[in-house]
Amino acid sequence: MAGCMGAWRYVTSLEICRSLSNVIGPRHLLCRYNAAYLYLLGHVLELGFGPGVGLKDALAKLGPHGHLYGVDPSEYMHSVASRRLASGIQTGQVQLFSGTAESLPLPDGIIDRVFHCNCYYFWPDLDKACNEIKRVMKPGAFMVTTLSISVLRMLEDYGVFKDVKWQPQPYMEALQRANFTDVNMKSFQQGSFKYQAIFAAVK
Ligand SMILES: C[S@@+](CC[C@H](N)C(=O)[O-])C[C@H]1O[C@@H](n2cnc3c(N)ncnc32)[C@H](O)[C@@H]1O
Repeated sequence: MAGCMGAWRYVTSLEICRSLSNVIGPRHLLCRYNAAYLYLLGHVLELGFGPGVGLKDALAKLGPHGHLYGVDPSEYMHSVASRRLASGIQTGQVQLFSGTAESLPLPDGIIDRVFHCNCYYFWPDLDKACNEIKRVMKPGAFMVTTLSISVLRMLEDYGVFKDVKWQPQPYMEALQRANFTDVNMKSFQQGSFKYQAIFAAVK
């Protein structure tokens, strides 16, 4: 049953992701804003990379000595992102893994920066995911996720987000329970597009 629920969630998020990817321009902007806040360096991980827009942007900013990891459970997203990131994968600078935020296929303490966009809403167990993410991060590492509360509210009103818990508060509380520090959310505006970024650090 748990397996079925997990599979259901992935399918749901995949469908949402696929159907919205051409409709919501700001979603792609959000992916890029993540990289803007990260001061990208070292070993960088994107959770739930989807079609790979955020990874592509991060790769351009990372420089030749950085390394980019992506983890996503969806085979479809792997195939799309693999095409988008083909050159980085070929040089070995980008590695895409099949997995989830709750069970990362990475060793302890190797990651300097983590980002994710439109993703935590689909994690079945926020506490498990936050503990797992912290496990792979180095001391001094930090994480950012971007979201647009106004867009998410609109999607909820349109009935797109059935059973999807997108509200930032439970996610931020799970980060605190996992002993992330400096957990905070800031609001930003780019033109008429309003969005938020949630930050969390590891001591
Ligand atoms: C709405 S899409 C967002 C994709 C990408 N971040 C973007 O904004 O373009 C959500 C992504 O999260 C992935 N996902 C679903 N459950 C996940 C989990 N438990 N851990 C990590 N990723 C997950 C899905 O496969 C999908 O690619």
